[in-house]
Amino acid sequence: MQKMQSSIVALSGSGLSAESGLPTFRDAAGLWKQHSWQELASPEGWRRNPELVLEFYNERRAKAWTAQPNEAHRAIAALEQKFAVTVITQNVDALHERAGSKIVLHVHGELAWARGTGPSRRRCRIEGAPIHMGQHCEEGTQLRPDIVWFGEETQYMEEAREIVALADKVLVVGTSLTVYPAAGLVEFARDDSERVVNSLELDAVPPGFRFLRGKATDIVPKLVADWMSGAAAAP
Ligand code: APR
Repeated sequence: MQKMQSSIVALSGSGLSAESGLPTFRDAAGLWKQHSWQELASPEGWRRNPELVLEFYNERRAKAWTAQPNEAHRAIAALEQKFAVTVITQNVDALHERAGSKIVLHVHGELAWARGTGPSRRRCRIEGAPIHMGQHCEEGTQLRPDIVWFGEETQYMEEAREIVALADKVLVVGTSLTVYPAAGLVEFARDDSERVVNSLELDAVPPGFRFLRGKATDIVPKLVADWMSGAAAAP
């Protein structure tokens, strides 16, 4: 009888893409230290000044589109050689996919997509291109970034909770675990699962998790090498 492949879930945040040159949010040089999320990442801010919001995301999109995955992204993708891996990311860049990860849930949306502002929220893929005022979706409504703003519903949460609850190993990397409901996913990890969190600093280490302090590109490849050497090859 074929042995079930062990499953791993990687929960990632902006700290994972920091070494690919993309800013985090709450670190010293973080985006929300320099800008107001109320103005740039909320439905109210969009209503007040959509040009300002589009400009902010156009800049972020252009930067993210030229960024390259780093050793930590690649190590997470390499796990698929021996494990059933799901990536659940708060990141809106495409670096997990570029590193080769096949199953990636973007709970806070993706910069490479835009969506209409009408009830159907019709999406369209824009890759690294800017969005301008007057640019409409197929149904004729103004396009906006397909990003989950504060006060809007986080995506795929039910699926994400189930995946975390089934995982044999849970790796949390590069997130401050301060934004809910995504930060609450750690609470669904099984008691008998191996739980590891990597970050430069954390206000509180989630119960049951082993905290590995350090840069993701130092910590994650080593951890992955350990897990790979301990596991039988994928069937
Ligand atoms: N390696 C590992 N961890 C790092 C690195 C690095 N090179 N650089 C920074 N970090 C860690 C920081 O110590 C911090 O714990 O990454 C975390 C970044 O935290 P935040 O800036 O709060 O970013 P994140 O957790 O991704 O934010 C969550 O908030 O603004 C919203 O929607 C946005 O998805 C985002 C959500």
